[in-house]
Amino acid sequence: MPDCFEIIHKDLAGRLGRLTTPHGTVETPALMPVVNPHLMMIKPSMLKKLGAQMLITNSYIISQDPQLREAAEEKGLHALLDFDGPIMTDSGAFQLSVYGSVEVQPLEILRFQQAIRSDVCVPLDIPTPPDVPPERAAAELRETEARLEEARASWEGDLLLAGPIQGSTYPSLREAAARKVREIGFDVCPVGGVVPLMEAYRYRDLVQVVAAAKRGLGSGAPVHLFGAGHPMVFALAAALGCDLFDSAAYAIYARDGRYLTPYGTWKLEEMKYLPCSCEVCSSHSAEELRSSPDRVSLLARHNLAASLQEIELVKQRIWEGSLWELLESRCRTHPRMLDGLKSLESMAEDLEKLDRVSKSTLFYLSPQSARRPEVVRYGRRVERIALYGRVLITDMRPSEEDRRSFDHILSFKPPFGPYPHQLAETYPLNAEVPLEPDREALEQALANARKLIQANPAASFQLRLRDVEDADSLVRP
Ligand code: GUN
Ligand code: ZN
Repeated sequence: MPDCFEIIHKDLAGRLGRLTTPHGTVETPALMPVVNPHLMMIKPSMLKKLGAQMLITNSYIISQDPQLREAAEEKGLHALLDFDGPIMTDSGAFQLSVYGSVEVQPLEILRFQQAIRSDVCVPLDIPTPPDVPPERAAAELRETEARLEEARASWEGDLLLAGPIQGSTYPSLREAAARKVREIGFDVCPVGGVVPLMEAYRYRDLVQVVAAAKRGLGSGAPVHLFGAGHPMVFALAAALGCDLFDSAAYAIYARDGRYLTPYGTWKLEEMKYLPCSCEVCSSHSAEELRSSPDRVSLLARHNLAASLQEIELVKQRIWEGSLWELLESRCRTHPRMLDGLKSLESMAEDLEKLDRVSKSTLFYLSPQSARRPEVVRYGRRVERIALYGRVLITDMRPSEEDRRSFDHILSFKPPFGPYPHQLAETYPLNAEVPLEPDREALEQALANARKLIQANPAASFQLRLRDVEDADSLVRP
């Protein structure tokens, strides 16, 4: 784990951390607004006022513009942008992926980033698009890795060096790429080549790609998700263990007249109300915003405020251990986001190992709650309950007669299933659940009951449930 990154608190695979750079320490997860040095829609000093701790800009764009280049070389990047906090610079790799070529050598652009004193410098990686033939993905990855080796070998000083992870949509390549990045040793580890996945709402593939990269990296490295700027994805990406995001979206969407929220995007044209209380939305009506000559920059300010606010919410959720609850609601923003969450659920076993054991009261909010790491963990623990004689499992108050005739009486609560009543007030069994369980919760609970029964072949069981007739038959082997 690089010594510039410290993890303070965890929830799922997400974490609160501190990334230390030559221009100060930022708390993560953090959103870095993208600053286009040609077109500063919001001035960096204003970005800071809005709550941005760190920025990202493009060293390639600066280096290709003689005026900007000279100014940056003369007074440094921070004076050029008028921002005294940490700044990350990208290398032009994205221009490479869009235009097919760039007018710069890998070491040259890295030296330039060093010369202008960027806090986090990025070598010129090759962003391989999704779904290319595996031979191409592997060949481009070899080239990226050669450049990363070269970059690291020549690196000295206090500036942080990033090691982008590529590998297209091949989880095995991504995992190997991440292992290589870990082995070479980088201060920040961006997952690259994912913008096309997000643009096409391919959240299931995004989850697979990020999870593969995390497996190769281990949990200690700070991870940047390149190009993740829509607030809708922050909770999901943070839950996977991403620590840094960059947003060009706030400006790009503003230019298109689109209003960002963590629960989706609106066209300003179609809005009658502004459901936000940032400084822009609280001082304009939808109509005033639409007809303002400053509408693009005002909209950009709202978009950024909404994005930064979502980051604060993600942080609070990690802090109190309720990131899963946020995921369940955010992943209902778009049907494909739900695919992303389901893909994350399929990794519940892995998540469960990282997740902390105790947190704030679990809320059962949707069928996705039945696949939470806590429920998976309980499914494993239930087999350890040792029972003998006659056992009653019930969700009703046992009678005096029951107390006399059973050796053990266990309570029953979907999605967990049977549990000793002494645990009723402890995490996670103190969960708030609906009065009427959904099918997923009941099935999970019955599956756990079956496990308990199988683990105790010498005992005899009776299952008695308020709303289920002949519950016994559901768990009979
Ligand atoms: N910006 C968006 N995606 C990428 C990527 O894969 N690499 C780099 N360097 N920048 C990006
Ligand atoms: Zn607003």
